[in-house]
This record gives sequence, C-alpha cells and structure tokens, in this order.
Amino acid sequence: MPTTQTASAHPNIALAKYWGKRDVGLNLPAMSSLSVTLDDFRTRTSVTWDAERDEVAIDGNRAGDAAAKRVFAFLDLVDPKRPPCAVVSESNFPASAGLASSSSAFAALALAATRASGRKRSLEELSVLARQGSGSACRSLHGGFVLWRRGEKDDGTDSHALPVAPADWWPLRVLVAVVDAGPKPVGSTDGMLRTAQTSPSYGVFVRDSETCVQEVRAAILARDFERLIAATERSTKGMITTMLGARPEIRYQRPASMDLVEVVASLRRTGILAGWTMDAGPNVKVLVQPGDAAVVAARLREIVPRVHDLGVGGPALVEGQAGPEAS
Ligand code: DP6
Repeated sequence: MPTTQTASAHPNIALAKYWGKRDVGLNLPAMSSLSVTLDDFRTRTSVTWDAERDEVAIDGNRAGDAAAKRVFAFLDLVDPKRPPCAVVSESNFPASAGLASSSSAFAALALAATRASGRKRSLEELSVLARQGSGSACRSLHGGFVLWRRGEKDDGTDSHALPVAPADWWPLRVLVAVVDAGPKPVGSTDGMLRTAQTSPSYGVFVRDSETCVQEVRAAILARDFERLIAATERSTKGMITTMLGARPEIRYQRPASMDLVEVVASLRRTGILAGWTMDAGPNVKVLVQPGDAAVVAARLREIVPRVHDLGVGGPALVEGQAGPEAS
C-alpha cells in the first residue's frame, strides 16, 4: 500500500559560513558553521513510498535528470532497498539563487521520506541524513539559531546540527535583497572543491572559521547585535576572499551586490546598525533589529526592487505532527 507523508522546512542563512569539505562522499564539512532559520520562505515536500514508478516534480514541473538523480540517490540513503517513490516538492521562493533552497529542500525531503518509509530516526540522525543531501540542509531541521558541528569521526555520525537558541530567543530581521533570482554559475559543491584545491587563502579561512562560530554563538547568547554583525561580516568576507582567490575565480557578486553593501556601510555611519552577508549568489542578506527593518529595507529598495523582510523561523515539521522527530 503506498504511503504519502508531507513535511515542510524553512531555508537558513549562515552567519558563520560553511565553504569546504573534509569528505566529499559523506558531505562532511571542513569547519563548523552557524545559521539562522528564516520564516515565511519554505519548501513543502510530499513523498509517496511504494509508488508506481520513481518520479520527482519540483515547483510544478518534472525534475531534470540531474536533480532527479540527486533525489533518488538521497532516497537510497533512506533505504537502499526502497520501492519506487514519487516526490512532489514546492518552494515559495526561487531555487538555486543563493537563497539557500537546497537547505529547506533536503530537510523537508529527509523528514517526509523517513516518515513515508515507516522508519524512526532521532533528530540527530535526521540531521546526519539531510547533511548528505546538502550540507546546509542539516541546519534547517531546527528553528532559530543553529550550530552545525564539523565533527571528528570519519563516518560523519558526529557531524550534525544542534540548536543554539529557539526562534523566539531574538526577534532579528533578515532583509533579503534580490539582485538576481536565476541559477548560480558555479554550484556549491564544485565551488568548494575548486576553492580548497586552488585558493591560497583557503587554509586561513578554515582556521578562522572556528573563531567566527564562537563569536557568532557568544553574540547570540548575549543578544549582542554589534558583535553578531561584526562576526557575520568577518566570516562572509573570509569566504568571499577565498572564493575570489580560486583559479579560475569564483565570483557570485554583481555591481548591485556591492552597491547594497555600500548602503549598509553608509547606514552604519549614520548610526543605524545593520550587517550584511552573501552566499553562493549575488543576493545580499542584511541583518537588522526589528525597529530598523522598514527604514533599511526602503534604502535597499533604492538599489533593487525586491527586498523580502523575513523573521526567524521555526523547525521543520511533518504535517499533522507537532515536531520534526519521527515518533
Ligand atoms: C555559501 O549546503 O549548498 O550557503 O553541501 O555542497 O550541497 P553542499 O553545499 P550547500 O552550501 C552552502 C554554502 C553557503 C554557506 C552556508 O550555508 O554555510
């Protein structure tokens, strides 16, 4: 009898970045990272176990070969002897644009597929599973502020996400300024490998990452906004610098991205606290305190028309159930 289960998850944005792998096969990171889960943006995924045939639909269309292959390989991790499965996934924000769509996609898929298969997995085990779909996905199982431990073990069982503080701990706003919502020129995995192999500053970035994680964590626990944006920008600049040092260079930024960074810097000179970050795409995410969100968003909209004002989101959920743990 086919069983269908549906789960939803929010994307997350790293405040201390993951950019580099210590094991590509198991998708183990070279550094710990720390993120904030966003509200409003979400991916909702249904998995039918024991379907007529393997099929994947993403945002209303049949998935292309590469995306479908990635989903089927992931389902094989859930159960190597699995029956055919049908996956239907919808996101309410653009995929592949540095808006962290793979984080919500693989968190929702890990949860829905595990449930549909009838298996039980702890939250840590679900996070280990989601990590193998896309690294950042392991952080999206949790809401609020989330640490992904690098881990030491070769089998990766200690490389999973852990909650730092829940969504209601600190009501920050994340303004997502959309420079371009098209697919990125270099995928994260290829970009990370090229960076590690060719960028002279990669080792510096990896070494500095642990300090950035500790700084971001301390700032969150103390609700110290100035410390948070300083540590987030430090990690972001380290990541961008090492990307630019790769051969050939990896450059996701566009002129408008840098104009947005300039807006943030000029606001700071007038006493409005805001901090910027970017990921594997040209879009700029600006961290602000709630009282400053409207004025900062208006300034960013002078550069790009689309600016989303998002809050801190909750954990991934199975529909009809209160939390992400398989019961
Ligand atoms: C720049 O999680 O997309 O957003 O593990 O190869 O799927 P894979 O990479 P992915 O990389 C995210 C990189 C980043 C920084 C971050 O989210 O920490």
